[in-house]
Amino acid sequence: DWTMANFIDMEVEKIREQVGDRNVLCALSGGVDSSVVAALIHKAIGEQLTCIFVDHGLLRKDEGETVMRTFRDQFHMNIIKVDAADRFLSKLEGVADPEQKRKIIGNEFIYVFDDEAAKLENMDFLAQGTLYTDIVESGTETAQTIKSHHNVGGLPEDMEFELIEPLNTLFKDEVRALGTELGVPDEIVWRQPFPGPGLGIRVLGEITPEKVEIVRESDAILREEIKKAGLDRDIWQYFTVLPDIRSVGVMGDARTYDYAIGIRAVTSIDGMTSDWARIPWDVLEKISVRLVNEVDHINRVLYDVTSKPPATIEWE
Ligand code: XMP
Repeated sequence: DWTMANFIDMEVEKIREQVGDRNVLCALSGGVDSSVVAALIHKAIGEQLTCIFVDHGLLRKDEGETVMRTFRDQFHMNIIKVDAADRFLSKLEGVADPEQKRKIIGNEFIYVFDDEAAKLENMDFLAQGTLYTDIVESGTETAQTIKSHHNVGGLPEDMEFELIEPLNTLFKDEVRALGTELGVPDEIVWRQPFPGPGLGIRVLGEITPEKVEIVRESDAILREEIKKAGLDRDIWQYFTVLPDIRSVGVMGDARTYDYAIGIRAVTSIDGMTSDWARIPWDVLEKISVRLVNEVDHINRVLYDVTSKPPATIEWE
């Protein structure tokens, strides 16, 4: 009969047979799918797996550390972290158009991954966290085409890899169960969806290091308070966005002229449609007070009360 333990045993066997004494490369993003794929393949072939983790400087607070703590320190994987923040930021300088930003970030991912992969020898396979639903959906016209979506793990064009996609018969809930069975921590297994372009599409318009910092710090506070309130598994996605608006405020007895920050929190089944989450007002109040007090350059807090459609979940 079908159990997760049996599934693991069978897949481990299959992967060992397919790979033999060759090597596998994996683009690890820290998301659920690529993390579980890495953990599964590592269980099968250990040292023969190498992961590349590209930090584009647009990750959430502590995200890079969590990935390294988990996969390098706990799983003892071969993992290469590429600190590419400068490279991404300089490519993005002066660019305000959302689609252009997405394209630049998506392409740069592939270039950085490509550069790192080229330094490695004898990589024969590329592991990808493709799920059953990814295969089914890619054949149809979906809302995904409204915005260009970029994920880590786009195939470097001039490299020839055989693909390994051991999750391609699974649904998301099964991938989470598999991750837990393999010892992947809850903070990764139950991570809310996070777009490939990261905080880059949550700083509206032109990206600057200062603005990224405002979004990163405010997002961390929001996540902390949502978790404290016990709402983190009920709300599909919750994050802050920085519209390019400054407004007048007063702090102590001085006038301020600083940024407004937006809170986006939605309930959803699959991200295709969504409703705005009814976060209790006292929780919103706590979040608002903390954002203004603790994050430099914020003097006003907005709450997005739009469903999808007509709005999208992200603001860009
Ligand atoms: P939208 O904003 O289109 O988002 O309503 C729907 C869901 O998709 C996520 N999203 C992305 N995920 N790469 C991703 O992997 C992307 O480029 C991307 N853009 C949006 C978004 O966070 C939401 O969960």
